[in-house]
Amino acid sequence: MKVITFFNHAGGVGKSSSVRDIGFTLGQRGYRVLLIDADPQANLTDWLGVRDLPDDNGERREIELEDTLYPAVLADDDADLALPSPIRVHGVDLIPGHLDVATIEPMLPGQLMGVMRLKEALRSLKDQYDFVLIDPPPSLGQLSALAVIAAQYVVVPVPASGKGLKGLQTVVQMLGRFRKANPELKLAMVLVTQYNDTTNHSRESLAQLRAQFGHLAPVSQPLTYRPALYPDSQLHGEPLPEFARRNPVTQEIDAVTTQLLDTLGVATHV
Ligand SMILES: Nc1ncnc2c1ncn2[C@@H]1O[C@H](COP(=O)(O)OP(=O)(O)OP(=O)(O)O)[C@@H](O)[C@H]1O
Ligand SMILES: [Mg+2]
Repeated sequence: MKVITFFNHAGGVGKSSSVRDIGFTLGQRGYRVLLIDADPQANLTDWLGVRDLPDDNGERREIELEDTLYPAVLADDDADLALPSPIRVHGVDLIPGHLDVATIEPMLPGQLMGVMRLKEALRSLKDQYDFVLIDPPPSLGQLSALAVIAAQYVVVPVPASGKGLKGLQTVVQMLGRFRKANPELKLAMVLVTQYNDTTNHSRESLAQLRAQFGHLAPVSQPLTYRPALYPDSQLHGEPLPEFARRNPVTQEIDAVTTQLLDTLGVATHV
């Protein structure tokens, strides 16, 4: 089981979109995939179309904190710490997000080995999944620490822009710190997002990303900026490769997924 956290403390860089689309693509290839929405914004959950859950009487009920990663991290009795049963959606399993996942932030520092708890909880799932993809919030807080320390690999989504480049230096510094708590942590890939090949700015930013960070990790081929498609797929609650099967975006995501698998040293399924 490979645990991959898509980390960048900058907001709006494509973390949730990438977890959704690469996670889905891995599922389509026959891998057993678990996605964990560790963001109180719960965009990943919403964009997979999960807005409520079935209850015991066949009715619909709201998502609750007990459905999220919360019980793996905080419980009345530490012996009870475990992830809940996931939701099956679009060929993958999902631990959904919830606004109140934010309550983990202030409470975690008071817990013994608190930031290690998601890693601990995932240990018991190691024979059930090939890949676990974690989507943290845009912050350097406890939830991000929990998510990165749980992983063996980090993928850093970065928009092809000057702003994207600027934040990456801090991301690399933070990974150095997280590595102290989790020595096995590797930077698997810089994932270039929101690339607009009609602008010099985007092309130059991509060249700079490769020049400045290419020695640290493979810099992916870019995911193109597609302002119409992304919001539409979110509204439909479908990953892009499902929503826009015949659109070139699906090939792009497929190619990036192959690149990621290559960097993880995993043979690709055809
Ligand atoms: N390639 C793209 N083309 C157009 N829009 C995109 C693209 N990638 C992402 N977006 C849009 O940019 C916004 C931010 O993307 P996303 O939510 O995936 O990033 P994030 O890093 O998870 O954000 P946050 O930090 O808020 O969690 C979203 O509205 C998404 O639809
Ligand atoms: Mg997000």
